[in-house]
Amino acid sequence: MTSSWQNGVTPTWDSFLYGGDYNPDQWPKEIWDRDIELMQKAGWNIATLPVFGWAALEPEEGVYTLDWLQEILDKLQAGGIRVCLATATASVPAWLAHRYPDVLITMSDGKKRKHGDRHVFCPHSPNYRRLASNLVRKIAETFGHHPAVALWHINNEYGWQCYCDLCAAEFRIWLQKRYASLDELNYAWNTAFWGHTYRTWEHIEPPFPFGETSIHGLKIDYYRFQSEALAGLCRMERDIIKSITPELPVTTNFMGTYFNLDYHQWAKDLDVCSWDSYPAIDSNPSDTAFGHSLTRGLKNGQPFLLMETSPSQQNWSTYSRLKPPGWLRAQGMQAVAHGADSVMYFQWRKSPGGFEKYHGAVVEHGGDEKNRVFQEVAQLGSDLQKAGIQVQGGVVPAKVAILFDWPNWWSFAFASGPNQELDYCAVVRDFYGAFHRLGIDVEVVSPSRDDWSSFDLIVAPLLNMLRPDDAQKIKLKVQEGATLVATTYTGLVDASDRVNFEGAPGHWREVLGLSVMETDSLPGDQPNEVVWSDGVRFPARLLADRVRLEGAEIRARYGKGWYKDEPAITENFYGEGRGFYLATLPTLEGLTHFFRDLITELGLSSPLAGGAAPPLGVEVAQRLTPGGEIVLFVINHTSSSVDIPLAPGFYRDLVSSQKHSGRIGLAGYGVLMLVHLAE
Ligand code: GLA
Ligand code: ZN
Repeated sequence: MTSSWQNGVTPTWDSFLYGGDYNPDQWPKEIWDRDIELMQKAGWNIATLPVFGWAALEPEEGVYTLDWLQEILDKLQAGGIRVCLATATASVPAWLAHRYPDVLITMSDGKKRKHGDRHVFCPHSPNYRRLASNLVRKIAETFGHHPAVALWHINNEYGWQCYCDLCAAEFRIWLQKRYASLDELNYAWNTAFWGHTYRTWEHIEPPFPFGETSIHGLKIDYYRFQSEALAGLCRMERDIIKSITPELPVTTNFMGTYFNLDYHQWAKDLDVCSWDSYPAIDSNPSDTAFGHSLTRGLKNGQPFLLMETSPSQQNWSTYSRLKPPGWLRAQGMQAVAHGADSVMYFQWRKSPGGFEKYHGAVVEHGGDEKNRVFQEVAQLGSDLQKAGIQVQGGVVPAKVAILFDWPNWWSFAFASGPNQELDYCAVVRDFYGAFHRLGIDVEVVSPSRDDWSSFDLIVAPLLNMLRPDDAQKIKLKVQEGATLVATTYTGLVDASDRVNFEGAPGHWREVLGLSVMETDSLPGDQPNEVVWSDGVRFPARLLADRVRLEGAEIRARYGKGWYKDEPAITENFYGEGRGFYLATLPTLEGLTHFFRDLITELGLSSPLAGGAAPPLGVEVAQRLTPGGEIVLFVINHTSSSVDIPLAPGFYRDLVSSQKHSGRIGLAGYGVLMLVHLAE
C-alpha cells in the first residue's frame, strides 16, 4: 500500500480510497478480527481512527495507553487496510475538562459549558493547546511511520465558537493588528451609529446576542477571528505532524457550507481538502453537487476527499430514512464525478450506545455481510477499484466560476434587511442549479482567488462585500475577454461591512455600465417578472433594483408593478469582455433560460448529443484519466429509467466494459462512466 505524494501536489494512492470511520475502542477486541474480515469483503481499503480516542489513549494526564492502537493498526496492516490516522483531539477526556476548566468553551449566551459532547475546546486555552500538542506528538512519534498510515486526519469537524474572557482578550489583540488605531476601527465599524463609539480597546466585547448585536463589523470580525483561531489550532497540530512525518499528506474534514468557518482561509493550510456530505434522500442532487464543487474550488480545482457520508440513515434528521437500493452508489459516484478521490463512510459499525446508536453504518447491529447496505457498499467498492481509480488525481478544469464568500454570507446573515427571506446560500445554489441542469461543470470559488485564467464566465451572485483587490482582478479578466454576471446587492460594503459612498455596484460600476438608484424588496407571494424582448417571461424574487444605465444595454425588463418595463437584465461591453447585471433574482427556471443562451454564445455546452441539457434528474460531469482521456459520468438521480443521448462516437463504460453509442437507456439510480473510443 503505497502513497505517492510530494508537498504541493495532489496526493494519489495505488488504489481508490474506500473506507471510513472506525471506532474499535467502542467494541471488545474479540470483534476486531471479524471487523477486518468484513472490511475486506466490503472492499474497504482505508479506515479512519482514532477520531475520538483521546480518553482511551491517555486515561490520565501524561499516562499513555497506546497498545490497543498498535494492535489494531497492525491488524489493519496485515489485512491490507490502510489508515487515515486521526489525531484524537476532537473529544476531550473527562479528567482533562475537570482539571483544566479553561479548556471548555463559553457559549454565546455567556454560559460556560460543562464537560461532555465533543468539539467543545476553546482555541486559546493554554491547557488544551499544551495537552493536545502532547497527544499529537505522541501519536505521530509512535504511529506516524507505521506502514499502514496513508494520511493524517486532524481533529474532526472543527467549528464551535468560544466567547470566553481569554478569547475576548485575544480578540482585542487581533483587532489591534487589523486596525491601526481605535479611530480606524470606529470608522470601519461605523460605531457612531447609536453612539457606540469605543474610547478604549478594553471595552470591546465579543458580540454576545444579549450584548452588542447592532455593529455588524464587530460580528463579522469576531467570526473571522474565531475561524482563524480554530485554523491556528489545526496548524498547531499540522506543524507537529509535519515535523515528524513530512512525507504524509494532511487533511481535516470540512462541512461544505458551514457558517462558522471560512474554509477559503483554511484550505491553504492543508495538503488535500476533505468534506463530510450527508444528503437526505429527498435533497436536491444539485445541492449535493454544489458541496462537491465548493470543496474542489477550495484548492483551485484540486481533487478532494469525501471523508464521510452515511451508507444508510442519518439519526439526526427528523426521519431516519433508508436509502433506496442504488441510491448509495449514485451518491458515491456523484462525488467522484465532481472530483472526489475517495468515498468514505461514517461509520463502520453501528454504535452499541450513545447518540449515534441509530446512525447508519456499513455493519448493522448484529448484522453481517448479508445485509442490503453491506452488499451495496461492497458493490460500489468493487466498481470504484475498477473504474474510480482510473480518474484519481484527474480533473477537467471548469470554464465557469461561481463566487462564494464566507464574510459576504456573514454580512447578509447579520444584516437587518433587505429581505428577511433572503438566504445567500440558497441563492448561490440556485445559480449553481441552473448550470447543473444545463450539464455545465462549475467550480465554486473565492472572489479572492488569484488566478482567473481558466474561466470564461464568472458568476457573482449577491457579492455585496466586494473587496477592491478582488474587484480589480476580475475586472481585468473581463477586460481581457471574460464574461461577468453580477446581481442586485453587489459591491455596497467593504470588508468591514461599511457601506461605500458611491453606492452599488461599487467597484464594478464601470464594468457593468450602470448604477443602482434604489432597491425594492419583494414578499414571497408577490414576485415580479423578467421579460425578454421575445416575450419569454419568468418570475423574479426577493429583490428588485431600479438602475440608471451608464452604457449598459437592456436585455430584459420588469413585467409588473410601477417600474414595469424598466431594465431587469442588462449587458455592458467592457474591453474585450462583457458585464451582465441581473437587477433582480430570477427563479431557477429563469436563470436556466438566461444561462442557456449565454453559454451557447460562449461556446460552452453539455457533453451530451448536440450539447443538450441532460434529462431532468440526470447529472453529467467529467474527469480525466492520467493518460488525458476524458471520462464522462452520467448519473441518474431518479428511480425511473431515462434515455441518454450520447454525443456521436463510441464509448466504453469503465465499470461494465460495455460499449455504447447513440441513445442508451439508463436505469433508475444508474451511473455511466464512459471513455470515448478512438474511431
Ligand atoms: C459528523 C462527524 C461524525 C459523525 C457524523 C454523523 O460528520 O464527523 O463523527 O458524528 O457527523 O452524521
Ligand atoms: Zn475561549
